[in-house]
Amino acid sequence: MASFIVLLGPPGVGKGTQATIIAKKMGLPHISSGDLFRENMKNQTDLGKQVQAFMDRGELVPDDLTIAMVRERLSRPDCAKGAILDGFPRTPEQARALSGILGTRSADVGLVPFLNADPDVLVERLSGRLTCRAGGHVYHRKFNPPAVNGKCDVDGSDLMQREDDKAETVSRRLRVYMEQTSPLINHYKAEGKLVEINGELPVEQVTAALERAIGIR
Ligand code: AP5
Repeated sequence: MASFIVLLGPPGVGKGTQATIIAKKMGLPHISSGDLFRENMKNQTDLGKQVQAFMDRGELVPDDLTIAMVRERLSRPDCAKGAILDGFPRTPEQARALSGILGTRSADVGLVPFLNADPDVLVERLSGRLTCRAGGHVYHRKFNPPAVNGKCDVDGSDLMQREDDKAETVSRRLRVYMEQTSPLINHYKAEGKLVEINGELPVEQVTAALERAIGIR
């Protein structure tokens, strides 16, 4: 039975950090809609050009573009046994589309771990985040600093601040999350799939709670 897990939660709560760890442990692909958009922007594809302004402003990319991109990604053979979804779905329309996409292969979303943290914690995490240019590896100035200042431990490339991690854009992203994505909490609660996890704990403790919720520990 395929295992599709949706990591839900506000910007900066640690979805990407945890999805990377859990996906590796479960041998499933980590599908991050934000990473897919950033890859398209980096490669200057038509999609990348269309989404750049939305992302820079901290607004959601329109549902039709987002759903088409994730539908294509989920159709690839590495998703046959499931996937860890990070940052998708983000609207009720996207949640319906995901059910439809998975339904065509007799699968469904299995579990929705909802990582939550106080807004002050989110702002501190986003303002201190450093991302590597080459591979998107993620660090934090205080909580997870690289061994060599400004350089990625994995590939040695330069670390930078994401454009949308600047203070004015962060506050818009948090507002957009409250208005457009937080309704999914009740959506998945009503389906009996939501498990709330304290995202304020250190990385290892959040991972342990996730593993217990998923049943891999
Ligand atoms: P996206 O890339 O998905 O950003 P996000 O949801 O805002 O999430 P983040 O990547 O900012 O945070 P995260 O929760 O993954 O935290 P992380 O692990 O990095 O989306 C960006 C944009 O793309 C959107 O604004 C929108 O424009 C567009 N988009 C994407 N998906 C879309 C969709 N479905 N529909 C429409 N538009 C879409 O951690 C953050 C920092 O904290 C790091 O520095 C990390 O090292 C640190 N950290 C993590 N965990 C801990 C911990 N437990 N303790 C201490 N530090 C920690």
